[in-house]
Amino acid sequence: MKSILVTGGAGFIGSNYINYFLNKRDDYFIVNLDKLTYAGNLENLKPVENKKNYVFVKGDICNRELVEYIFERYNIKYVINFAAESHVDRSILGSAIFYQTNVIGTNVLLETARRYEVERFLQVSTDEVYGSLGATGLFTEQTPLSPNSPYSSSKAGADMMVQAFYHTYGMPVVTTRCSNNYGPLQFPEKLIPLMIINALNNKKLPVYGDGMNVRDWIYVIDHNIGIDLVFNDGKIGEVYNLGASNEMPNIEIVKLILSHLGKGEELIEYVKDRPGHDRRYAIDSSKIQKELGWKPQYTFDDAIANTVEWYLSNKEWWGRIISGEYQKYYSDQYSTRIKG
Ligand code: NAD
Ligand code: TYD
Repeated sequence: MKSILVTGGAGFIGSNYINYFLNKRDDYFIVNLDKLTYAGNLENLKPVENKKNYVFVKGDICNRELVEYIFERYNIKYVINFAAESHVDRSILGSAIFYQTNVIGTNVLLETARRYEVERFLQVSTDEVYGSLGATGLFTEQTPLSPNSPYSSSKAGADMMVQAFYHTYGMPVVTTRCSNNYGPLQFPEKLIPLMIINALNNKKLPVYGDGMNVRDWIYVIDHNIGIDLVFNDGKIGEVYNLGASNEMPNIEIVKLILSHLGKGEELIEYVKDRPGHDRRYAIDSSKIQKELGWKPQYTFDDAIANTVEWYLSNKEWWGRIISGEYQKYYSDQYSTRIKG
């Protein structure tokens, strides 16, 4: 059986990926290497934890000995690298761990993958590496990298390293760059789950700046279907953008969430802007559509309704999260932002 090393598989997108993948295939063995940072949660993997073709290893992608051991022990021939520090606001509070995990960690994986002659290495990246757009235009795969936050610069560094390993060593790499995801199991530091949970708790909804920053939203399952296509059929050395052409200003999303929950707009609180806040992201995904036949399967209206419903039905999941270390993060992040 072919073995895939999936890193960061206990986080939001990685756990959705593993649950989706193992539900439809049993011809691969998945080794999930995850450090279980604040964002990693083994509860996310309940549906697969007893599968014979799945094993979880708690550990750091920066740990060379451990990574080497995993390649040897499980005869790894494929890698999908989801593991990352993923939140822009946290990267502004402290950047070192972002460069450690996102850059050095990717280097450890690439070096080991090179020695073990993997057949495919998929780097899960983000549209944020392209920087910020003005009122018009879309990011294509040709848009120069121009990251603005510690988070996006660490991801851009990793992307360039992946390309360098392709050009220098001929490594069989592929890269996906996706827009903002939403869906079940997303840690409630990101816009959509944070607003849902605050609204359910009748807490203020902190909207940064004028609320008119634009993100291009994609349902996590559509992202993972794209990853799977690129993993199987993507051309070596290529980058594929993924996005569902669903641009929305933040304030509209926040109002939509309130209306889904039957809550009033008096909960909205405009707060001090994020430093260096990228104004607009919007992605052109015509390459993956034309070359690999991908297209989003979910409409925003249906998928946001599913997502709100999931958080309503899974209060225990997020209740455990927000009662822990999250409290300290929330006060570090938001106490200095409130105006006045
Ligand atoms: P997440 O923060 O929910 O999960 C990250 C996972 O990585 C966690 O389980 C964490 O424990 C693990 N991890 C962190 N550091 C590690 C380390 N040193 N070693 C091993 N595991 C480690 O993030 P996510 O939203 O699921 O994002 C997954 C990937 O997708 C990231 O690479 C991110 O840059 C990329 N991405 C995210 C989005 C988005 O909207 N969330 C969009 C595009 C791309
Ligand atoms: P986020 O979910 O952190 O994703 P990213 O910064 O990677 O795009 O934020 C999405 C948008 O929502 C971004 O423009 C910042 C804004 N935002 C708020 O207005 N308030 C919040 O509390 C958060 C977390 C985000």
